[in-house]
Amino acid sequence: MFRTRVTELLGIEYPIVGGCMMHISRPEFVAAISNAGALGMMASAMFDTQEEFRQAVRRAKTLTDRPFGVNLNLFPALRPIDNNLYVQVILEEGVPVVETSGRRPPEDMLARLKAGGVRMMHKCVSVRHAVSAERAGVDAVTIFGTEGGGHIGELGLTTMVLVPCAADALEIPLLAAGGIADGRGLLAALVLGAEGVTIGTRLLLTEECPIHNNLKQALAAATEPDTLPILGSLQNSIRAWKNAAALRVAELEASQAEFGEILALVAGTETKRMFKEGDVDAGVICCSQGIGLVREIKPVAEVISGMVREAQSRLTQIGSSA
Ligand SMILES: Cc1cc2nc3c(=O)[nH]c(=O)nc-3n(C[C@H](O)[C@H](O)[C@H](O)COP(=O)(O)O)c2cc1C
Repeated sequence: MFRTRVTELLGIEYPIVGGCMMHISRPEFVAAISNAGALGMMASAMFDTQEEFRQAVRRAKTLTDRPFGVNLNLFPALRPIDNNLYVQVILEEGVPVVETSGRRPPEDMLARLKAGGVRMMHKCVSVRHAVSAERAGVDAVTIFGTEGGGHIGELGLTTMVLVPCAADALEIPLLAAGGIADGRGLLAALVLGAEGVTIGTRLLLTEECPIHNNLKQALAAATEPDTLPILGSLQNSIRAWKNAAALRVAELEASQAEFGEILALVAGTETKRMFKEGDVDAGVICCSQGIGLVREIKPVAEVISGMVREAQSRLTQIGSSA
């Protein structure tokens, strides 16, 4: 069902990638996504040392015999990251797919990974950057609209417009991300010219997602206006759930507070505490406008297969009413 160049390239059953999520995309969660027929994507930046990252990759390999990927963070990072250390592990451990996000992957990194047989994806927020990544030699691009959870960039362009524009401009397979949280979104993305989707926010509300149940319940009650872009003052905008921590960041930005004051709120310590202890106003969590579509906490496999089933049945419905 929905075999595309993306399912072919990534060796997956369904054209769905479980987007990497900082402090969340650990081996167990990544493997659950891959076992569900999608592609799990580990967030390398959450591992402080090369050895910790290696152990995480090995753990994922024991939990799934299906492909999974690793994201390399090329955004301005709060902690200095030497991606070469992760690249070494990726090559030694035979990780089949790498996604870069943020800046375009440096030529030497791309060449090294491609020479090792790794399929390369790049995630970006503009068609110009997508075309530039294609020219640099990546195998697929994910175009990410501003309604999504995570680094939305400064352009404010929506998935609805970015996807067909990128599909027109690219030869290589395209994935759509941002605001896709059910089968209708999956089908729409395919109709707009994508050959797969990357989802993040929908997967927060799954049984396997390693965040506190209080937070899952609070997010299940959230609706589509309950997110906001923050960190635009640092040219590093993310879309986050509108809790007390995110509102505080917005307030500090509006009052042109010191960088250090803002940093203390977004550095990750409070977010990790919120994920663990369930104090839902403690930290900032990235979140999509698509949260308005998500009400139920389900097993990952049900979310993935449910999306595909819904897309298929909508397609049949449209076909029979045309
Ligand atoms: C909680 C959370 C954390 C995320 N962390 C990262 C990250 O560290 N790096 C990255 O490239 N994208 C990150 N993303 C973006 C996702 O990988 C994915 O592209 C996005 O969630 C898709 O949009 P959606 O949320 O509308 O499904 C994050 C998203 C969420 C919701």
